Amino acid sequence: MLSIRAAVESDIPAMESLIAQSVATLQQHDYTEAQRAAALGVIFGVDKALVRDGTYLLAEVDGVIVACGAWSRRMNKFGSDNVPGKNDALLDPATHPARIRSFFVHPAWARKGIGSRILEACEHAARSAGFTSLELVATVTGEYLYAVRGYTVTARYELDLAGGVKLPVIGMIRHLNPATEVRLLTSPL
Ligand SMILES: CC(C)(COP(=O)(O)OP(=O)(O)OC[C@H]1O[C@@H](n2cnc3c(N)ncnc32)[C@H](O)[C@@H]1OP(=O)(O)O)[C@@H](O)C(=O)NCCC(=O)NCCS
Repeated sequence: MLSIRAAVESDIPAMESLIAQSVATLQQHDYTEAQRAAALGVIFGVDKALVRDGTYLLAEVDGVIVACGAWSRRMNKFGSDNVPGKNDALLDPATHPARIRSFFVHPAWARKGIGSRILEACEHAARSAGFTSLELVATVTGEYLYAVRGYTVTARYELDLAGGVKLPVIGMIRHLNPATEVRLLTSPL
């Protein structure tokens, strides 16, 4: 039985372990070992501000955490507590897109729709908080999931990591248009 709940501080060690396993296995065809090692703990890791905000969600199966993913009402677009230049300023829903952040699925649970389930829950929560669009910085591995859910590419660029390592990422956005979405939900197929 899959259930989704907000993460709390005591979940953080299990989340860090899940993230390391997800990066090691699911990203291995998209990023080199050097890229994954340089990004882990800096780009890929827990941002505790999202846990404190109650916007970092966990998926559990029989009480075991199998995936995590967040939405955010804060300026920072990606990364763990250790990302350089972290900016936790609050966004204004009237003018800013909410952020989608930090999606990691345990390798044994990939391609079972769990990432989509958490993303849907994040989108719903961000919409309820008054945001009308969602922005994210995707990994090469993550781009498929977001493209399927209607996010479009705004930029392709590289993050500079320690040791001269570069990490290719993709900027993506989705506009939440309530009028269109209500029509889609109610129109007969
Ligand atoms: C990206 C990630 C979160 C996707 O989670 P997931 O639970 O496997 O995704 P879902 O099962 O909900 O996938 C939904 C759809 O997205 C697409 N998709 C997801 N992963 C894909 C992949 N590796 N290749 C091609 N399509 C993919 C498919 O259309 C899929 O539907 P299908 O399985 O019926 O074909 C997971 O691969 C992951 O944790 N990757 C490592 C960490 C990472 O890079 N996270 C992204 C941070 S931006």
